[in-house]
Amino acid sequence: MVESVPNNPAPHIERRFLVTGAKGFIGAWIAKELVERGDRPCVFDIDTNTSRLSALLTPDQMSSVQLIQGDITQSRDVERAVADNGATHVLHLAGLQVPFCAADPVRGAMINVVGTLNVFEAARRHRDQVQSIVYASSAAVFGPEELYGRGTVPEGAPLLPGTHYGVFKQCNEGNARVYFQDNGLSSVGIRPGAVYGVGRDRGMTSGPTKAIKATVVGRPYTIRFTGGLDLQYVRDTARIFLRCAEASLTGARTYTLRGDVMQMNKFLQCLGEILPASKALAKAEGQALPVSYDFDDSALHRDLPGVVRTPLAEGIRETAAIFERLQKTGHLDITDLET
Ligand SMILES: NC(=O)c1ccc[n+]([C@@H]2O[C@H](COP(=O)([O-])OP(=O)(O)OC[C@H]3O[C@@H](n4cnc5c(N)ncnc54)[C@H](O)[C@@H]3O)[C@@H](O)[C@H]2O)c1
Repeated sequence: MVESVPNNPAPHIERRFLVTGAKGFIGAWIAKELVERGDRPCVFDIDTNTSRLSALLTPDQMSSVQLIQGDITQSRDVERAVADNGATHVLHLAGLQVPFCAADPVRGAMINVVGTLNVFEAARRHRDQVQSIVYASSAAVFGPEELYGRGTVPEGAPLLPGTHYGVFKQCNEGNARVYFQDNGLSSVGIRPGAVYGVGRDRGMTSGPTKAIKATVVGRPYTIRFTGGLDLQYVRDTARIFLRCAEASLTGARTYTLRGDVMQMNKFLQCLGEILPASKALAKAEGQALPVSYDFDDSALHRDLPGVVRTPLAEGIRETAAIFERLQKTGHLDITDLET
C-alpha cells in the first residue's frame, strides 16, 4: 500500500457506486440518476423503508439497486459494504439533520462524525479499490447571516457554524483535510443549502417542499419560517455529487452550492404562479432562520464548468408533477405534512 500518492489510485476496476443514506432524500435521487444511466448502485442505509426510492424508481429499476442494511456508526458494517461490493466510488450521505442533532448531539456526533470517519477509514484500507469519496457537508458550516455582513458570503469565508450539525460538518471537512495530508486520500465535501424536491420530508428547510405537496393534495400548510433561503433543486444536487465523484479531483476539496436565493414571500409568489391553489393554502410565518443563505459558488463552476442550475419555477413544476402522479396511484405519503 502506498500512503503518499496524492490521489486514490484504482486502475482497471469495474465501476461500482456505493451510496450511503440513499433511502433518504438526496441519496435516493443519486440512486435514480445512476439507475437511469445503467449503473447498479449499492445503497447502504439503516432504514428498512424504501419509500423514497420507490417513489422515484419503477419496480423494474428498483431491481437494479442493491440494498444493504447497515449502521454507519459501526465500522464493520461500513467495511463490509465497501469491501464485499467492490465499491469504487463512495458517495456518503447518511446523516442526521439539524433538528435531530440539536435534540441529541451525542447521537448526532456518532452518526455525522464517527460515521464519516468510518467511511474514510474503509476507503483508506481499500485505497487500491476506492477511486473517489464524495461526502455531504452543508452550507451550515457557515454561521448566521449577521456574522458575515450583508451580501454574498465569499468562498473562503470563515466557518462559524451556529449549530451542532454545522460543527459536525465542519469537523468532517477538517478530518477530510487530514486524510489527504496524512494518507493522500482525496475527497470532495459538497455543501448544499436548502435542497427541495420529492422526498424532502424532514429537516429544518423542508417547508417549501411540503408547501408544494400540501397544495397538490388541497391542504393548508404553513412554512414555519420567513426570511431568505437558497433553494436548490434536488436533481441538480444529485448530479453535482456524481460529477464530483467522476471528475478525478485531487486534494480535500469542498464546494459550496448555490441555487435560487430568495425571500420566502418570493417563493410563495412563484408557487402561486405555478399552482394558483397555493395562494389560499400555503403561507409562511415565524422568524427568519438563523443561517446564512447567500453564497458564492464560483469554485464549483471554476473546477466543473457546465454545472446546471434548474430555475425554481421548473423545479416546482416537476416536483408537483411527481407528487400528482404519486397521488393518482395511491402512493403519496402525506404524513410529513403533520410535522
Ligand atoms: N436536504 C438538504 O437540504 C441538505 C442540505 C445540506 C446538507 N445535507 C446533507 O446531505 C445528506 C443527505 O441529506 P437528506 O436530505 O437526503 O437527508 P435524509 O434525512 O433524507 O437522509 C439521510 C439518510 O441517512 C440514513 N441514516 C441515518 N442514520 C444512519 C445510520 N446510523 N446508518 C446508516 N444510515 C443512516 C437515514 O436512514 C436516511 O435515509 C445529509 O448528510 C445532510 O446533512 C442535506
